[in-house]
Amino acid sequence: MRRLRTAIFISGRGSNMDALIAAAREKDFPAEIALVMSNRPEAEGLVRAKAMGLATAAVDHKIYAGREEFERSMQQVLETYRIDFICLAGFLRLLTPWFINLWSGRMLNIHPALLPSYRGLHTHERALADGVKIHGCTVHFVVPQMDEGPIVAQAAVPVLDDDTPESLGARVLRQEHRIYPLALRLAASGAVRVEGNRVLGAVPTDPGAMTVPAV
Ligand code: GRF
Repeated sequence: MRRLRTAIFISGRGSNMDALIAAAREKDFPAEIALVMSNRPEAEGLVRAKAMGLATAAVDHKIYAGREEFERSMQQVLETYRIDFICLAGFLRLLTPWFINLWSGRMLNIHPALLPSYRGLHTHERALADGVKIHGCTVHFVVPQMDEGPIVAQAAVPVLDDDTPESLGARVLRQEHRIYPLALRLAASGAVRVEGNRVLGAVPTDPGAMTVPAV
């Protein structure tokens, strides 16, 4: 089995990165983490990835005249490392259609809400303000429209009476760490196919990821 050479893009903490790295160490995982790239040289996750002996790259967006120059530079690094697949994991730069189309069908993102609800930022605050009873997270293929694209995996969590954005966010984050490796496994193994906006053929190896888990 050829493992897909995968790059993880981060901007900060990198806890989803950790979950992907741990999963990729498992025997038979269809992807290997061949690069961790950050637009912020000081990203905490980058330091950890380096300490784990992974290849890392920092492409500081601030030194480029525009988005395309920044992305061309990232693309060069991706080519150097012969990357096949990208996982955005807390990567806080919007990507241009040029870059996204180059990686169409080969780039996943994780979003801390049940898309298509709560696109954008501050998802936990907004979910609490709306009084929803179910919240969660989504892994989807990246398309040019922000926080849209075929959904590979979702997990739901209950919203509790005494939740704060922090406690709700922490509950969601635990699920993020479960479904991102699951989604990468599905996408990288070729187990799923994309038809229009739908990802079909996903037989979850972790059925709990598709349901409301216990608190
Ligand atoms: C996660 O909540 C992810 O869903 C969002 O940004 C956060 C990144 O956290 N896109 P981490 O850097 O993976 O810890």
